[in-house]
Amino acid sequence: MGLTSPRKFAKSDPIVMAAKISSETASPLGGAESAAATAPVSAPGQTSQPAATAAPATAPLVFRPGLEGVPATQSAICDIDGSRGVLTYRGYPVNQLASHSTFLETAYLLIWGELPTIFQLRDFEQEVQMHRRVSFRIRDMMKCFPASGHPMDALQASAASLGLFYSRRALYDPQYITEAVVRLIAKIPTMVAAFQLIRKGQDPIQPRDDLAYSANFLYMLTEREPDPLAARIFDACLILHAEHSLNASTFSARVTASTLTDPYAVVASAVGTLAGPLHGGANEDVLDMLDEIGSVDQVEAWLDRAIAEKRKIMGFGHREYRVKDPRAVILQGLAEDLFLRFGHDSMYDVARRLEAVAAERLGPKGIFPNVDFYSGLVYRKLGIPRDLFTPIFAIARTAGWLAHWREQLGANRIYRPTQIYTGSLERPWLPLEGRPTPS
Ligand code: CMC
Repeated sequence: MGLTSPRKFAKSDPIVMAAKISSETASPLGGAESAAATAPVSAPGQTSQPAATAAPATAPLVFRPGLEGVPATQSAICDIDGSRGVLTYRGYPVNQLASHSTFLETAYLLIWGELPTIFQLRDFEQEVQMHRRVSFRIRDMMKCFPASGHPMDALQASAASLGLFYSRRALYDPQYITEAVVRLIAKIPTMVAAFQLIRKGQDPIQPRDDLAYSANFLYMLTEREPDPLAARIFDACLILHAEHSLNASTFSARVTASTLTDPYAVVASAVGTLAGPLHGGANEDVLDMLDEIGSVDQVEAWLDRAIAEKRKIMGFGHREYRVKDPRAVILQGLAEDLFLRFGHDSMYDVARRLEAVAAERLGPKGIFPNVDFYSGLVYRKLGIPRDLFTPIFAIARTAGWLAHWREQLGANRIYRPTQIYTGSLERPWLPLEGRPTPS
């Protein structure tokens, strides 16, 4: 079968074909590593077929839908042990970071590779604090956005607009990299909070220099200084969402970064990818789903119906985990801390019952709660509107995206995977009057 052979294409159908590996399709790693990284991987139960020709430059190409199990980079930022449910950032377990660190300290660790010293942390915090404000032009631009628009779309547009204001691009200048990191970490929360007030018909408020990162964000959002426990729990949520290896939005960030465009375009492309309901957008859908279920006694019947209808249960399942996501375990604890302090939420009872029933129905397939299952309940208790859950995810994940941006620049090769062509064979152009009428 040649590369241009027409073939019926099924979404879930891994295809093994012989193809010439050209320099364009080889791994960015090059050399011996390249050979290892591009070695064919057969789909479960599928045997790799021999190459169609014996030419030394040919090897079987294997199509893995969703690139499942295909290494697309080498990275030292984050590691996931999906069978034990362990997540580490630069080697530090995320539960230790959530208990003992702040979000800014974690962002520093992710981006620069080591936990900061007391002086490094103080400098980083001060730098971020100094760059929290956004230009009045950006605020004015946001006033032109429709109030009914989704805050993720507003964030994507605003993040991209930073490239207009900071248009000097010097990717090989360490000072430029540091400034871009600080600017993005500092300004993304301000833009999320600004759109929230603007869409309510209010003027955005300026950040407060006496408040730490998370407390300041909650202040800019609500115009009230938050309770210290609420601010601390919110900060832990940011830590838990800060990084998660080569997920869809991070992959998007790395692909964009590999073209050597500016970091604002990198983050804007990642924001767009995060917005989808199979990725960051699931946290909103979880609460809609819990609303739909309504009460604890409805859970079992609802779940059986949803499974029969082959619906995805939002906040469940993960490409990497076969056990409960460690972040969901921590977020559940944080939700309980909030309920103890600020009052119970009956929606939590529905969620717990759903987790218990789903463990029987979906657990044997390795489908358990992921990070999005309990995060929405935490944000709801903090009084945050549902459609801001994903922008908050983006505030946190900006740290991870920037860590990957730096890493990508350190060993860059433009992403340019290959494809397996399934369209028509070469055919002659037909004049208008000679074209067959579509049936
Ligand atoms: N509910 C019911 N069945 C599921 C679910 C779910 N949430 N997730 C996976 N499955 C089933 C799926 O139907 C399929 O079954 P079968 O083999 O019988 O057809 C099998 O498990 C494999 O599913 P998949 O969709 O091919 O798995 P994936 O690795 O491509 O997708 C996922 C991972 C997260 C997109 C998926 O589990 C899902 O859609 N979950 C719901 C949305 C969600 O919670 N997303 C947040 C993900 S975590 C945070 C983030 O990344 O932002």
